[in-house]
Amino acid sequence: MEKSLVIIKPDAVGKKIIGEIIARFEKEDLTIEKLKMARIDRKLACEHYCEHKDKNFFESLIKYITSDRVVIVVVSGEDAIKKVRSLIGPTDSKKAEKGTIRGDFGTDITINVIHGSDSVKSSSREIKLFFGQN
Ligand code: GTP
Ligand code: MG
Repeated sequence: MEKSLVIIKPDAVGKKIIGEIIARFEKEDLTIEKLKMARIDRKLACEHYCEHKDKNFFESLIKYITSDRVVIVVVSGEDAIKKVRSLIGPTDSKKAEKGTIRGDFGTDITINVIHGSDSVKSSSREIKLFFGQN
């Protein structure tokens, strides 16, 4: 079964929509495999977003994702990666349609509620990074 690593970001925890987000996944017949709350430290955040390390927005991205607690979730199901990404909507909340998670709850391109893995390769790397070997 395909797996996606999801991070419910600090703004979503603050807005008290953890349950709402989890419910949207479960309604699409996705399974919550693993779930934990944590405050991501700088080192882990940099590892997670290392593909962006040379971008001009990297520092604000790291500052934001480490600013408060997050919920880290492994979601599984058929086509889980694509399903999760389509429930989330595009990166910029302002461009995301209503009915998507970012369109309904996001603020902008940084404060965008949630992360979802973008490929099988990143999902397996990210699950290892946040939950260890298995
Ligand atoms: P994640 O699920 O968080 O990985 O978002 P994504 O897959 O939709 O986008 P991507 O992996 O390309 O970027 C990771 C994060 O960097 C995004 O969630 C944004 O917060 C931020 N980001 C990406 N592109 C831009 C940009 O052009 N400007 C700014 N300010 N932030 C960006
Ligand atoms: Mg991404």
